[in-house]
Amino acid sequence: MRVTDLDTPAVVIDFDRVEANLARVQALADGLGLRLRPHVKTHKLPVLARLQMDQGAVGITCQKVGEAEAMAEGGLDDILITYNILGAAKLDRLARLHSRITVAVVADSAETVSGYASHFTDPSRPLSVLVECDTGAARCGVQTPAAALALARNIAGSAGLRFGGLMTYPPRGDPARTELWLAEAVAILREADLPPPVVSNGGTPDLSRLADVPSATEHRPGT
Ligand SMILES: Cc1ncc(COP(=O)(O)O)c(C=O)c1O
Repeated sequence: MRVTDLDTPAVVIDFDRVEANLARVQALADGLGLRLRPHVKTHKLPVLARLQMDQGAVGITCQKVGEAEAMAEGGLDDILITYNILGAAKLDRLARLHSRITVAVVADSAETVSGYASHFTDPSRPLSVLVECDTGAARCGVQTPAAALALARNIAGSAGLRFGGLMTYPPRGDPARTELWLAEAVAILREADLPPPVVSNGGTPDLSRLADVPSATEHRPGT
């Protein structure tokens, strides 16, 4: 078949190129001892998420409960949702997801944490909550390492929640700034006896500079 024979509109995927891209980024992460948790924003296809897992990803990232539900349906069983989940309707769906697969979420406010705490109360199966940090991108996240510690304490003090670590979407082109922020946060969390199990960084623009954020333990490329 030729491209010109396709009835349009049609999505056309150059699979050789996709595989080469996935392998390249996985190798980059492996070389630095970083765990890879790709964001599904670009493909939104379980078949490609499974390919990423086959290549060595530790799990995937979704931006909303609906995406995570679709990925779980497609066989993905370790999902970080990098968004504050608010409101009973979404929290009910999150609870159903949490009963089926390994799921983690983020919070950047006490309001978000209290919503999670009201829906997740079983200490034998706690919901993992990472503190979202604004390391300079000015999108979402707590504003200072001290605020990250306060929220981590809040999470750790809730019976059905578990402090899962730190999460950031970094400012473009300034990995040193991200590292400074995260290193300080990790230090004060360790001092407070709350070492972050995961420090999750993300983004595609600075993939060639992953080594400049040594505090990160995992990376979430999407684009
Ligand atoms: C929270 C989060 N993580 C990871 C990504 C992936 O970033 P990129 O598209 O730069 O690879 C995004 C993209 O918006 C995001 O919002």
